[in-house]
Amino acid sequence: MKLIRLTYFSRSCLNRDNNQHAVAEILAIAAANNRRDGVTGVLICDDRWFLQELEGTENKVSATFERILRDQRHRDVALVTMLAVTERRYPGFAMACAIHDRDNDDLFRHYGEDISFDPRQMRGDRLSDLIEAVAQRALVGGKKWTKSNDTTVA
Ligand SMILES: Cc1cc2nc3c(=O)[nH]c(=O)nc-3n(C[C@H](O)[C@H](O)[C@H](O)COP(=O)(O)O)c2cc1C
Repeated sequence: MKLIRLTYFSRSCLNRDNNQHAVAEILAIAAANNRRDGVTGVLICDDRWFLQELEGTENKVSATFERILRDQRHRDVALVTMLAVTERRYPGFAMACAIHDRDNDDLFRHYGEDISFDPRQMRGDRLSDLIEAVAQRALVGGKKWTKSNDTTVA
């Protein structure tokens, strides 16, 4: 079965005051479904944007993305890339999550090439590199990182 990696970004419609709770709700469903479907990936959020990479077989990733497209908790979903890949970047993570905060803001400025982060202005490969860099730092730092069997947001 062909393995693919899909990258998109979207505008968050979550209430800022309730953001972490709402993200935790999304993650709980996402992790359960993704474990069932053999989908892995990472979700990065702040109070304005979602960035997500999903990897798995083409049919499962497409079905997941179709559900995500219909979700009212975000809008303006923009598909950035859908690539055939030979291996997963996030094996073992049914849906990892990292929050854009002071500890990783330098990465957003570096890859986004601007002080205020705007994924609409970024090339697809830069966006994917940003997601990977944020995920790696969260993994090394051991915080704000949600494993497939742990859906809490730090
Ligand atoms: C930003 C965002 C990311 C999401 N990521 C996933 C995901 O990785 N996997 C998943 O199954 N659902 C994910 N969801 C939730 C889906 O949109 C949907 O609510 C869920 O799959 C249940 O779909 P259903 O009610 O049609 O069964 C995400 C939602 C949002 C807003």
